[in-house]
Amino acid sequence: MKAGIRLNRYLAQCGIASRRHADELIVKGAVKINGRAVRELGTLVNYADDVEVEGRVIRPPRRPTYLLVNKPAGVVTTMRDPESRRTVAELLPHGTRGVPVGRLDYDTSGVLLITDDGELANRLLHPRFGVEKTYRAAVAGRLSQAEVAKLHRGIPLDGVRTAPAKVRVVSSARERSIVEITIHEGRNRQVRRMFEALGHPVLALTRTRFGPLRLGALAGGAVRSLTPRELAALERHRRPPVEFPRSKRNTTRTPVTRGTS
Ligand code: URA
Repeated sequence: MKAGIRLNRYLAQCGIASRRHADELIVKGAVKINGRAVRELGTLVNYADDVEVEGRVIRPPRRPTYLLVNKPAGVVTTMRDPESRRTVAELLPHGTRGVPVGRLDYDTSGVLLITDDGELANRLLHPRFGVEKTYRAAVAGRLSQAEVAKLHRGIPLDGVRTAPAKVRVVSSARERSIVEITIHEGRNRQVRRMFEALGHPVLALTRTRFGPLRLGALAGGAVRSLTPRELAALERHRRPPVEFPRSKRNTTRTPVTRGTS
């Protein structure tokens, strides 16, 4: 898949037209990319492409910020802190536009996306989109099979059971175990509280994946731009998920798409 943004969104970002009107312009052949008319809705464009609308060259919009930070423990996930603790802003290049997408606890390290693309941020955080997050937790003690099954099925927190989680015990010893857990909710201190509820307090917690974004070898406190492949993968999160109508679940598999794109 070519990395880039959908042409209608690009034209909307340039202030040329609403996305709907942009679609009309595209279909009637009024839009050219690098000198060639495009009529297909869903065409992708890059900020480096030359775009013309009705013979007029369009100035590209300012590129949105998409940065990945490996937040270290001991840093707050905000741009400013009234208590003067270290903030994520201190890790970013001076003048960066954007804010963290979601939050990690003060004591949690790992993947944090910084962007000024509010639409994408909302989608990534909306429960309906169920973006998966993977954490590597060092916990006290050894987990039994039954406890792993409980984590997998869901743990009641504040009277509401957590959604099923994927759980993998990486290593297990009497004093301390390492567990990889993947959840798609974002409840307050969710992972810590899930383990606490089982009597295995978390000793250290790192988020290793946020949707398609992986921590990899990024050093603690380091920042990097997203790769074209990661940007393309995030683009897919902009589209509404396919849902099945409640009454038809497990019977006729007729997908329904909801929301706007
Ligand atoms: N769950 C937690 O307990 N803490 C985090 O920072 C993220 C998920």
